Amino acid sequence: MASDNDLLLMHNNGYSADAIARHFNLRADSVRGRVSRARKRAGNLIQDTPPDEWDKVLEELAQVRAQLKAMQDADASMYEPSARDDTDWDKWEAEYQRLRRLNRMIVVQTMNDMHIPDDDHQAVDLALAINADVQPDITILGSDAFDFDVLSLKYPRMYNRKRRDPFEEVRGRYDDIVSELREGNPRGTLIALGDNHAQVRGENFINTLIPIFGDRITADYNELIRSQNRVLWLGWQQEVYLHKAIFEHGKKAGANPAMANFKSHGESFTDISGHAHRWQTIVTIKQHWMQEQRRMLYYPLMSAVTGCLQHVPPHYITDTKAINSTQGCAVVHVNMHGLDTHVQNILFHPREDGSLVAVLGKQVYMQQAAVSAVRKAG
Ligand SMILES: [Fe+2]
Repeated sequence: MASDNDLLLMHNNGYSADAIARHFNLRADSVRGRVSRARKRAGNLIQDTPPDEWDKVLEELAQVRAQLKAMQDADASMYEPSARDDTDWDKWEAEYQRLRRLNRMIVVQTMNDMHIPDDDHQAVDLALAINADVQPDITILGSDAFDFDVLSLKYPRMYNRKRRDPFEEVRGRYDDIVSELREGNPRGTLIALGDNHAQVRGENFINTLIPIFGDRITADYNELIRSQNRVLWLGWQQEVYLHKAIFEHGKKAGANPAMANFKSHGESFTDISGHAHRWQTIVTIKQHWMQEQRRMLYYPLMSAVTGCLQHVPPHYITDTKAINSTQGCAVVHVNMHGLDTHVQNILFHPREDGSLVAVLGKQVYMQQAAVSAVRKAG
């Protein structure tokens, strides 16, 4: 039970009578009266208190200060709880620990930048064929799985773009891809990262047009990306760490995105990203001193930007001369206890006959021309 002096101290620290009343479950009027009474008495507090009770008074003051600090700490959060907090990080943490216990390098495949509904079925099928063959422990989705061009407030849409529910427009195709991944690689884990097309476009759309429905829309997106809880959703965080490797959507799209991503992490991790839609791999040599062996270990760190799995060019591009995108995916081996992470950044090669080809080790994968999703070029 708070004393009148407790209430006065909180009031003097800037809390309103309403806030104090809420905290102690009192009526605001009652708080005002008790603060007023305590203020009148306060001038005589020390004089009225016998010296042998000062320790008790100081102890009570310390308790109130601790209570104040707890309230201030709670108030320090800049965000309300929301559907954004609903992620599968707990499940992912358990999976991470399981992977660490495996006595081998773990294998990760990225499927960046599908941009459904503008995904290239032929390129996605080629990535799925590689997935079924390689059987990666982890497959990374998200990372611009969806285009969401209809959510963009920045790029004007063509007037004849169909106005559809953007989530329902992509749900069927995305669920089919997840089903194929589950069927082809039943023991693999699927995870999804945040990205700019879902997060930035979604947040801008919500904040500009319908902020009060933000939570409902975010909850709907969580449900979409989880695909009947078959995909672990890591929330809007756009990167996930696997020991010395970072898998991220990526933010850099300039002349040398691989180096820019690498530098953004202090040149300390192997980095595998998408976003730029353009194959690039670089290597930097790092040094690690081994005291017991009295020698320096010179080891390579790689930074790779993968190709995309969407149409090249995308449907909204009208200047088709300026295209420098490539298609592809990456297969990455990660030593969960060491410095070595090896990226096989797989470039997809289109052939004149319409087929698409990828090479990994001795294996040549070929995907015949597919009947792609119906789309209308700009
Ligand atoms: Fe993208």
